[in-house]
Amino acid sequence: MAKQRSRPSIIAGNWKMYKTAGEAVQFIDALNPLIQSSDKVRVLLAPPFTAIYPAAERAKGTSIVIGAQNMNDASEGAFTGEVAALMLKEAGAQFVILGHSERRRIFKEDNGMVNRKVLRALEAGLQPIVCIGETREEHEANKMEQVLKAQLVESLAGVTARPAAQLVIAYEPVWAIGTGLTATPEQAQKAHAYIRKCIEEQWSATAAQAVPIIYGGSVKPDHAKALMEQPDIDGLLVGGAALQPDSFARIVNFEQSIVTSKG
Ligand code: 13P
Repeated sequence: MAKQRSRPSIIAGNWKMYKTAGEAVQFIDALNPLIQSSDKVRVLLAPPFTAIYPAAERAKGTSIVIGAQNMNDASEGAFTGEVAALMLKEAGAQFVILGHSERRRIFKEDNGMVNRKVLRALEAGLQPIVCIGETREEHEANKMEQVLKAQLVESLAGVTARPAAQLVIAYEPVWAIGTGLTATPEQAQKAHAYIRKCIEEQWSATAAQAVPIIYGGSVKPDHAKALMEQPDIDGLLVGGAALQPDSFARIVNFEQSIVTSKG
């Protein structure tokens, strides 16, 4: 299927709590020669906090962009163990993943908390990748649309149209994360089209066309192609398969060949 995409493709790796600073640098050295660079595909990596600075230093001059997996919603303060947006920015992070389902489930982050983080990240000049997605129970109860809309609207409250166009939305069905169960390309496309419709209703048609919506949940090189061919899937947020340079490079290069062949 020929997909005409005005939005850049994004292939992002979320390393979760894997890789030391040394391992992160080794990964970048191994990945860089394996990927073809292009301005049509953005290659993003989110290492743990301790690896952000060395990874960002090592990625300078490559097409790899480094970001964070989380941040605190305050600008600074007495919050033992927390990290603020400006600290991430100065360490070399350019984006931050917010509202990941593991943060929501394990660390009890709700939409209000995600919203405060989104506003703070935008203020600091970090691009938020805002994760939304329904649980298995919600999926089985046919509540996907209701859940996605509430998460989207509440997580992005107070974000006006222009900053909204600078966001990335990640659709990560919770039942697909780390389970080996990927949403089918049709299921994911349906969810992405719905999210785009909500963005149009909430902000504007321009914002809806500008915002990349990426898919995450058990993405592996073998089925990345079918997902990326869907018209509203602009990229992938990869967990397990982003931990090895060769499998991550296969996903990046595959996407590269799609956009290159489309000119
Ligand atoms: P897996 O690719 O390991 O399922 O993880 C997906 C994810 O949570 C990315 O943020």
